Amino acid sequence: MDYQIAEEKIVEILHKTEEKDVLQKTIKFLHENFEKYNWIGIYIVKDDNLILGPWIGPNATEHTKIPIGRGVCGAAAKTGKTEIVDDVKSDNRYLSCFITTKSEIVVPIYKDEKVIGEIDIDSDEKASFTEKDKEFLEKIADMLKEHI
Ligand code: SME
Repeated sequence: MDYQIAEEKIVEILHKTEEKDVLQKTIKFLHENFEKYNWIGIYIVKDDNLILGPWIGPNATEHTKIPIGRGVCGAAAKTGKTEIVDDVKSDNRYLSCFITTKSEIVVPIYKDEKVIGEIDIDSDEKASFTEKDKEFLEKIADMLKEHI
């Protein structure tokens, strides 16, 4: 799907969805419309940890609580910068979840200049995530900040 159209559709989802379902509906939409987004989860910052919130994908992850600073997720939360890993095997920070995962993107969600959560996406293809995905997902992260 075209990124601009997806952005507009997500704005619609945010407007018409009951608050308790907003995160789940948004990741379901992303999962259904971007084939390479094989697993999507939202982590929420609680004290010094990331706690897994809604997720969608073929399997559950064992990493439901990640200390800030650990793994690719913890790195993004610590620096506040989007992380793109083209080949998870060659990144020693990577915490393995699924044997099928080859690349990953982690996008921080900011509110009042603080990281309050993040969007984590795993892909079964190497180097799935481009600057376009980064730009798009950073906009989605900004839209979700009021729903964390
Ligand atoms: N790979 C992540 C852990 C979360 S799973 O991908 C769902 C990491 O290295 O932080």
